[in-house]
Order: sequence, then structure tokens, then C-alpha cells
Amino acid sequence: MSAPTGRGSDARSGPGGAPVPRIDAYEKVTGATRYAADRTPPGLAHAALAVATVGRGRVARVETAAARAVAGVLLVVTRFEEHELRPAGYRLSGGYGFQSLQPLLDDRIAYRGQPIALVVAETPVAAAEAAALVEARYEAAPAVAVTLDAAGAETVGQAAALPQPMFADLAMGDADAAFARSPVRLDAEYDIGAQHQVPMELLGTVVEWRGDDLVVHECTQNSGAVRHGLARQLGIAPARVRVVSPQVGGGFGQKTWLQSHVGPLAVAARRLGRPVKLVVDRTQTFHGSTFRPASRHRLRLGADRSGLLTALVHETRQQTSRHDLFASDFTSVTARLYGIGDFRGHQRLTRTDVQTPGFMRAPFEHAAVFALESAVDEIACATGHDPVALRLANDTGSDPVTGRPFSSRHLAACLRRGAELFGWAARTPRPGSMRAADGTLVGWGVAAGAYRASAGPAVARLRLAADGRIAVEVSGHEMGQGLRTAIARTVALDLGISAGGVRVGVGDTGEVPQHLTAGSWGTATALPAVHAALRRLRSCLGAPDEGPLDTVAAAAERAAAGRPEAVVEAVSLPPGQSARAVDRLRAGLPTPAGPEYPGFSAFSFIAHFVEVRVEPAIGRVRVPRVVSVVDCGRVASPVTAAGQIRGGVVWGIGAALRERGEPEPRHGGFHHADLAEYLVPVNADVGRVDVDFVDVPDPLVNPLGVKGCGEVALVGVAPAIANAIHHATGRRHRALPIRVEDVLAPEDDRNGNCP
Ligand code: MOS
Repeated sequence: MSAPTGRGSDARSGPGGAPVPRIDAYEKVTGATRYAADRTPPGLAHAALAVATVGRGRVARVETAAARAVAGVLLVVTRFEEHELRPAGYRLSGGYGFQSLQPLLDDRIAYRGQPIALVVAETPVAAAEAAALVEARYEAAPAVAVTLDAAGAETVGQAAALPQPMFADLAMGDADAAFARSPVRLDAEYDIGAQHQVPMELLGTVVEWRGDDLVVHECTQNSGAVRHGLARQLGIAPARVRVVSPQVGGGFGQKTWLQSHVGPLAVAARRLGRPVKLVVDRTQTFHGSTFRPASRHRLRLGADRSGLLTALVHETRQQTSRHDLFASDFTSVTARLYGIGDFRGHQRLTRTDVQTPGFMRAPFEHAAVFALESAVDEIACATGHDPVALRLANDTGSDPVTGRPFSSRHLAACLRRGAELFGWAARTPRPGSMRAADGTLVGWGVAAGAYRASAGPAVARLRLAADGRIAVEVSGHEMGQGLRTAIARTVALDLGISAGGVRVGVGDTGEVPQHLTAGSWGTATALPAVHAALRRLRSCLGAPDEGPLDTVAAAAERAAAGRPEAVVEAVSLPPGQSARAVDRLRAGLPTPAGPEYPGFSAFSFIAHFVEVRVEPAIGRVRVPRVVSVVDCGRVASPVTAAGQIRGGVVWGIGAALRERGEPEPRHGGFHHADLAEYLVPVNADVGRVDVDFVDVPDPLVNPLGVKGCGEVALVGVAPAIANAIHHATGRRHRALPIRVEDVLAPEDDRNGNCP
């Protein structure tokens, strides 16, 4: 592990030493930012959905007369014709939809909340009123299965059901034998409930036909897939569809594929000859798009008496829908967080009567690492080792799965610096041994995390305008994570100009081809293309390859010579990818590389240190402070990267203590489908969150040395909190979230094994 070197990138590394703030912050806080649903073209009509109130079955009859009688109603559709709307296909089968099922094409009801009618009216109020008057009679199935344990929930082995290498079970060495002979053994099961993304921005779509061309303003992390999916649904050429998604008010994986309301909206707009807008209401978002499925993890973790981890068996079960297999990937992180030579993973999927779940921030790593890092803490207790020292002792420089090196791995630096910043040395190890002056129990916990450093192909177009300003158009989406700022800062640092003067266009299929922005690959995907385009621009202007470039003078020179503004384009590929990836990019198909690249594996790493206060009488847990230290390679945008990490920590507080999608076992769907009842942390739940970066460029992943930092932020927060609660109370919690009733449960329920 090399020592951390570059602490200098905390906000002060812009030109002239000035900080580069979030470049779209002013517009955001003043309300000037325009999101998809803010668009109001002339003649706009408004849509609303009526949804199924049974969890499974078929619609026998839909009564729409009352809805049609509402003043201002223009259209009520309960069934689209096959020639006007086809399914977009499930993404794992080469399609573009978040699920294979396209509502409003037949009478099947696969989950509660599935749309049964689309209403379009002159106003949103009329549309909502009419949608509420749509009455359906159902032939409901006698029972629904919405939990992992429900009768009728069918479990399949993932590797057998999805015979592709990426879904196969991992095995190295002989983990079962190594576990059996380990002197210290832990065999435990961990349970993580469903979660919902609930981004601030609701799902919102505005569709407009301009002759035979369709323009869609859509909040999406994947405008390329929306374009190609709509073209397939409508039977038109992708070139006729433009999808515009310049600002997304939070995505977190919910907005990664074509939503099932967009195609119906486009058909309705064509029938009416008017643009149509739909904003999916908050309650319907709990059933109208993906969510984090429930999962369960059995871990068998072996160690020797010195605390060296010797064997890990990780068996998982994840919820999916009845109609699709949402594949899991829990074990690729647990196989690599430490240098465990003997590993066996086995992943299973359980079909339930829900919409198809999907990616939600650190989709597999959050749950998998909760299990592993809780178990590692138990091993530290059982072997009498400090949990930081034990993690350092089990670090590895090479990838246990492939035997090849990590491109960079500064987890040890994250742990050491975090311990120092947190003041870990003052911790007394015995659970319950630390108390605050007010009598609350104090617990200090630690956990590590990792997340694959992926990247995809990208196209960047750079324009030097006559006034010397630079405009960039690039494959990528801005969901608030700071991609625009990272791009502007990269251009500014390269040319020695101000970041504020750089115009950044993202998320628009009318500019350059758009690839899914997810999996924490957005920055590491867009920046190499921008970097390559900058080299082209310099060469086009006859400027040296590096050093400040006076863009105003260069533009003036061109103008004086009677030449047009300079426009250059560059395509970038991650290591090991061929031009075929660019074809997939142009077809709106996902094509990320990583974590395994030719010759190396690449991950980002993090260490979280958490203090909890537990009030013994009422079982309330507070989190007054967190220290998180991150290895994401070179930090491309310090201000927004730190914001990403803080956001991930806040989410981790929610994941550990608040959030759980509660399925309704008789009628299907999820209870508490709104923000009053689906609890996320509020400001008062969040204490001090200190973030620091190792900030050493990765030498292999891309020319900028940048790894992702979006999802790794969440990985390990929940186990750090659970471990801190154990330190405070002596009690282990192996299910999330950990609620007051769990903390207060009778003493004889204790399953902690710490001396
Ligand atoms: Mo992220 S859950 O891959 O958008």
C-alpha cells in the first residue's frame, strides 16, 4: 500500500487555487433548474394512471364511464392495440425496459399497483380525478407471494436459471473444507429488507410529436435506452426519437431503464395530436418502477486464532418478480474485500408477485457487505483483536478471484487515516464500556467497503465558440452527483480557464449517443472522452498538448483568418474494450467494463467509522458522528465528490435504522408508500459527517486516474452502525433496519458472542 500523498484536492485545486464549486448550484437553489416535467409546451395535456388494487390475477372488466364524464377528460385507454404499442423487452434479454411486462396490453395483473388505465385530460387535477373514478372488477388469484418466505414464492438457482458467465457462482479453493478446519467459525444469517429509491424528483415525462418525430423530456439515467426502447415499442426508427434528460433530481438506479408509462404516453399523444405530460405520484412510484429487493445471506466465515480469515461461504437469496429474473451479484464484492483464498458463493433468486426490482445504489454491495462486515466484527471480538487491526491484517494486494493485482487499492490507508481522524485509539473494546455524561451508551464501530470501478464507452464533442468559450457535449447523465462539475473542472484545469465558463451538455440523444449512467461509472466514463477531445482540440488549434491555452485569443485568431469555430469529437473506451462497445453505445445498450480488466481488477474502497449513542431506557439510536475515508483514485471534483460521500452516509443511516419496504402479504404491493411513512433520515438524524480522500490517481483505469465514488459511499455504513450498536450494547443485530424494538428486545435474545 503506498502512503497517501495528495490531500490537496479538497476544493482548492481550481485555476489560481480557487475552489471549483458545483457549477449548477446557483440554478438549483434559485429554482432555475428545469427538470423533465417542468417542460410546458403549448397545448400540453396531462395524464394520470389508474392502478390495480389486487396483487395478482386478471382484470375482468374496467368501468370508465364515470372517468370519461369528468370535465376536461380527453382520453381514457385501458388497452392498447398491439400494432401501436409493443413491449420494449427486458434489459437482461437485450431489451430496454426495467421489466418485460408492458402494462395495458392484456388483462394480466402481475402485481398490485400495475397500471390498468391511462387517463389524459386538460389539467392534472381532472386527470387525477378521472383516474380515481376508474373502477375495475378483477378475478384475483387466491393468494399472492410478496415475501421471500411466502407460500408460492418459487426459488431458483441463479447460475442454472441464467447460464451466462457473469451470473455464475464463484468458487476459489475449497471453502467448505477450509471452514470445517478453521479454529474460529461463525455461521450466521443476515436479512435485508426491500428498499425504495424515493428520489426527490418524481418520475416525470413530457412527450411531443413534431410531425413523425418524437421528442421526449424524461428524467432518466439512460436516455439512449429510452430512445431505442420507444422506437421498438412504436415501430419507428430510433433516429426519429430524441430523448432529453439534462438534469435528474436523483436517480439512484430507479431511472436506469425505460419506464412502462412512457410508451403509452407517446401513443396517447399521437392519438390526441397534443403533447402529453405525466408525473407519477409518489405513492405510485413505489410500484411503478424498480426497488431494492429483499435479500438474505448465510455466511460461514472461518478464521485462525490470530484473526486471519481462512474461509468464506456466502449463500444468498434475492427477491425478483414472477415475470423476470433480476440477477444478483452479491459475491463479487465479498470474494474480494479481504485476502481469503478459500471462497464459495451460491446465489439464488425467489420469484414473488411484485414489479421487477432493480438497481438501487450499491445494489448488491450494500447488503453483501452488511453481512460480511458484521461477521468480520464478530470474528474480531471472538479472537480478541481490534476490528481495525484485524481488517488491516487481512488486506490483500491482489484479487483473490483472478489472482491478478488490483489497479490500485488503498483500503489500508482509508482505515488508518479514518482511525486517526476519528480518534479510534481512545476506544475501550469491551461492549458497554463507554458512556456519555448523560448516561447514554456510546458505541464506536468500523466497517470497510468496496465497489467495482467500471467504465463504458463515451463520445465527447468539444466546441470552441467565436467568443472563446468552450462547450462540451458528452455521453453521461447528471443526477445531482456532480458529473457536470467534474467535466467543467477537467476542461478548466486542462486549458487553464474558469470552470464557470464551460457549457456542459449531457443526457441528450440529440447531441451525442447516450449510455446508461449508473454503476458509479459516469465520471470515469465521460472524463476520458473529454480528455481525448481536449487533445484533439489542442492539435486542431496547433497548440501544445499541455499547459494553459488562451481560448479567447485562439478563437479570435481563427475568426480573423475567416475560419469557422473549432469542433472536435473523440470516442473513448475503457481498457480492453473494442469498437463493438461503441456499436452497443449507439444502440442504447449497456456495455460497461470492469471490475476485471486485462491484467488487473479495479475497485474503489472506503472505510467508515461511526459513533452511536444508545438511550438504554427507550432503545433510541442516534448517530452523532461519522468519519469516512475514500479511495476513488484521483478525485475529479472535490466539492461534489464529498457531497456524494455524505449523501451515501446519510443513506446508510436510513438503511441501518429506518428504511424497509413492508410488503402487504394479503393484497400485494407495499405498505407505507409515501414519504410520511417510508422513513428516511431527516436533518435531525444526521450528525457530523467528515469525509476525506486518499486521492492517489489510479495508474491503470484511465488517463485521469479516476475511479467511481457514488455507490462505494453507501457500502459499509450499515455494518459500521450495527457494529457500533454492538459496541454500545453488547448485542448483535443481523437484520436491517435496526429499530427501537430490536434494541429493546429481551436480554435473553442476545446473540452477541463478544467476551
Ligand atoms: Mo446506480 S444503483 O447503478 O444508478
